[in-house]
This record gives sequence, C-alpha cells and structure tokens, in this order.
Amino acid sequence: MDLKLKGKIAFISGSTSGIGFATAKNLLVEGMEVYINGRTSKSVSSAVKKLKNQVNGAKVFGLVADFNNPEEVRDLLNKLPEVDVLINNVGIYDSQSFFETSTEQWNDQVQVNFMSGVKLSQYYLQKMLNKNWGRIIFISSECAYLVPIDMISYSTTKAAMHALSRGLAQLTKGTEVTVNVIVPGSTLSEGAKDFLANKAKLEGVSQKEVEQTFFSDERTQSLLERFASVDEVSNPIIYLCSPLSIATNGSVLKVDGGSSGGIL
Ligand SMILES: NC(=O)c1ccc[n+]([C@@H]2O[C@H](COP(=O)([O-])OP(=O)(O)OC[C@H]3O[C@@H](n4cnc5c(N)ncnc54)[C@H](OP(=O)(O)O)[C@@H]3O)[C@@H](O)[C@H]2O)c1
Repeated sequence: MDLKLKGKIAFISGSTSGIGFATAKNLLVEGMEVYINGRTSKSVSSAVKKLKNQVNGAKVFGLVADFNNPEEVRDLLNKLPEVDVLINNVGIYDSQSFFETSTEQWNDQVQVNFMSGVKLSQYYLQKMLNKNWGRIIFISSECAYLVPIDMISYSTTKAAMHALSRGLAQLTKGTEVTVNVIVPGSTLSEGAKDFLANKAKLEGVSQKEVEQTFFSDERTQSLLERFASVDEVSNPIIYLCSPLSIATNGSVLKVDGGSSGGIL
C-alpha cells in the first residue's frame, strides 16, 4: 500500500532507541525525511548512523535536546522551523512508591512526558493549520488507563496527554490536520528492558522471573500475553502519519494487546 508519505518531514522526540527509533526507521522506508532526537550528541549520531545503515538512502538527521532543559528545546525549535508530522514520543518512567516520589521527580515527568508535547505542538500546529496539512501523534501508555500503583506520576502525565490531544484536534476542524493518541501496552524497547532489570533488582528476583510473572500477575487482562515488539507498535503510528488516515482525528488508538480491557 502506498502511504503517500514520500518527501514529507517528520520530527520524533526521544527517538535514539525503542518505539521512536523503530518509527523513524519505518518512516524512512516510506521515503520521509526524518529528524530524530536524544539528549547527547553521542547517542544521536550513533542512532543516525544505525538508521543510515538499515535504510538505503535514508534522509535522517539528528537534533540533540533534553526536554527537561528549556534552552535546549528552544534551540531545537529554531533549528527545525517546520514539520509535516510531529510525533510526541519522549517519555520517562520508573517503578516508585507514590509516597517516595519527590516533587522534583514529578516535575521531571511532567516536563519530559507532557510539556514536551505542549511546547512542540504550540510551535508546529499553527504552521500545519496555515498550510492545511499536518499530523500530530501523542504516544501515551496503557498506564493512562491502568494507573499501576507504582507508576502514579507517569500514568498522570499520560492521562493529561489525552485531554491535550483531544483539545488540539478540536482546533483542526475543517482542515487536513489531525491530532491523535496511540496507546502502547508493554513493549520490549531498551527502556522497558532497563525497567524490568530495575524491578528485578528492587524485588530481589531474576529478570526472567519478573518477565514471567508480569503477565500472570500484573497485566492479567492482556490478550497478547507477551511484550509487543517496537515494530508492532510503530506500524499503526505510520498509518496515522499517512494522508490515508484523514478520517481519524481526535481519536485514541490502542496498541496495548488488549491490556486495558473494556470497550472504550
Ligand atoms: N516500552 C513500553 O513498554 C511502553 C509502554 C507504553 C508506552 N510507552 C511510551 O512510549 C514512548 C517510547 O518509549 P520507549 O520505551 O520506546 O523509550 P525508551 O526505549 O526508554 O527510549 C527512550 C528514548 O527517549 C530519549 N530520551 C529520554 N529522556 C529524554 C529527554 N529528557 N529528552 C530527550 N530525549 C530523551 C532517549 O534518548 P537518549 O538516551 O539518546 O537521550 C531514547 O531515545 C514513551 O513515551 C513511553 O512512555 C512505552
């Protein structure tokens, strides 16, 4: 299927690894020009190199910026004045008790997970509306629905993202711009691998045991009963980037293996 993405420009926040990296790769395969992002020039240039090796003729560029640093975000926006597709992917998460989560940790998660999307959308949405084409995609999480007790701050930032996305979609009425949310479930990204390792350490068990009990004890509603691959999560992201997805706007697309349950 021709997704009609050739020549369009995308920016993906937090994309030197995981779901963001897989999405960059798949958009490059579609012939897009892709700007990836991470916090250090080392990680960004290594990811750019990897993508050039994986996709023939890839038009991929790196932008270094920590979304917890307002000056670096300002510099990033100055370097990339316009995009056709904005993927708000960057997200940080950890397993921690609500009572032990400091104000600083709350602020970090709000800045990186939520305010990054606010700042990028404020900058790019008006330009998309002016040219009457654009896609904004927010990468949420099953945690917005499940709210695990050890991830309350993270889940809160993801739930807020849903209201932001719906509000922005309402600003696109009558245009060819859309704003949507993708809800991944447990996905075997590099970040998730680290998360599992930390949890294993915290609980004094092996990583294998954590993985085995995760679906039997914690994600009991999962119909997939395994971690999704980063490509399995990125496929619907690529579809939402395409002009073919114009009738999907202000929506939430779950890619959670059924874990959040229910009918909504
Ligand atoms: N994996 C899952 O199971 C899962 C499930 C549901 C939702 N999600 C969501 O999906 C998105 C991607 O998750 P992932 O697991 O694929 O990510 P990941 O493997 O943890 O990758 C993290 C990426 O974010 C970048 N990053 C981290 N902090 C940053 C910051 N402050 N500023 C800029 N870049 C930063 C890292 O770049 P550098 O290291 O190069 O700085 C890296 O490229 C997140 O929003 C996450 O909440 C993930």
